[in-house]
Amino acid sequence: MSTDRSEQLRAIRDAVVNLKQSPLYEYRRNNRYFPVIGQGDHNADIMFIGEAPGKNEAETGRPFCGASGRVLDELLALIDLRREDVYVTNILKDRPPNNRDPLKNEIELYTPFLERQIEIIQPKVIATLGRFAMEFILRRFGAYQANQKISQLHGTIIKVRTGYGRASVVPLFHPAAALYNANQRETMVEDFQVLKQFDAPAQPGPMRLL
Ligand code: URA
Repeated sequence: MSTDRSEQLRAIRDAVVNLKQSPLYEYRRNNRYFPVIGQGDHNADIMFIGEAPGKNEAETGRPFCGASGRVLDELLALIDLRREDVYVTNILKDRPPNNRDPLKNEIELYTPFLERQIEIIQPKVIATLGRFAMEFILRRFGAYQANQKISQLHGTIIKVRTGYGRASVVPLFHPAAALYNANQRETMVEDFQVLKQFDAPAQPGPMRLL
């Protein structure tokens, strides 16, 4: 089962590597960047979804490996989780220039890969990091109500129906928000407690980059 998942994720990586029609493809090549597919346990119960790779991520091919990633690791440690116990990915698999917001056509191009990752890993919990990922995922599962804000939904559990059964979406603030704002960090510490009830890493799998 796990090998099968890994094979399917490798197929996604290969497709993204060769995604010449992406408006971000030339930018990736010119800067010798890597696409960032995802990282963690392919059997994880919890999948974290961010917005798009930043510079550190594009230089290494690893999601959340810079300053935001350190915050994410700290928050995970507070609920006794490690990166190896969860799966971490982004909506976009390539870095947008100057970390600008993803464009509509980029989202359309990259989201089928994210949708396949969700179907392959079948997480019980989809924890969105930031407004962008929250809105995308809630819309995707028909659970977004107009004008809902992350300031209202953060730390709540929203039940959704997926192609593989029921799952819970937990909107969280983006770890970057905690970098310079201690209050925001406190809120995130509280919000992460919500994930505790789901963490059952029965058999911690190996840490995989893909
Ligand atoms: N911010 C994101 O949204 N994703 C990353 O991988 C890094 C920073």
